[in-house]
Amino acid sequence: MKIVVFFSGTGTNLRSFLEQEDDLSYEVVSTFTNNPKANGIQIATEFNKPCKIIDHQDYLERETFDQEIYKYLEGIDFDYIVLAGYMRILSSFLVDAYEGQIINIHPSLLPKYPGLDTHKRALAAHDTHHGTTIHFVINELDAGPIIRQESFPIEPNDNLESLINKVKEIENDIYPKTVSEYLT
Ligand code: GAR
Repeated sequence: MKIVVFFSGTGTNLRSFLEQEDDLSYEVVSTFTNNPKANGIQIATEFNKPCKIIDHQDYLERETFDQEIYKYLEGIDFDYIVLAGYMRILSSFLVDAYEGQIINIHPSLLPKYPGLDTHKRALAAHDTHHGTTIHFVINELDAGPIIRQESFPIEPNDNLESLINKVKEIENDIYPKTVSEYLT
């Protein structure tokens, strides 16, 4: 199974995909980012993977930017697009073009907290549990069919930073394995 990994920032999930590539059933054929300063670019380079960079700030319209992504994707042979900390909403034409082929990981127990600031919102709501969700992408934000969800209890001394780290630790563990096991 050939995958393209999209990221926007730190890239811990990207690293996890690349580190486990030899042991799992996918091949990372390319990587993509909208952020020329993303740390993930160094990670892709470290693993000798191509990284396509298209800065969304160079485009006034989301659709025009996503047309460039479409052109890039049309030049690659792949089965799935794996969003790993990709912080842009995809245009509907792009989601439609790759229906059922785009997977996302979202740092909340969906349907709770679609969108941003999920950790802050879980803390503010005094939730007993927090977690992460792997799901298919549809044309509604963070709302597609759920593939896997993992939760953990929020401890009294947890704060924003500890929740971010706990969620990422789980994500780094389950995301590559889940893509490998559930998708063919
Ligand atoms: C991850 O926690 C991921 O769930 C989240 O961004 C983080 C990226 O971390 N994604 C979203 O918020 C998407 N809406 P990473 O760059 O270290 O992989």
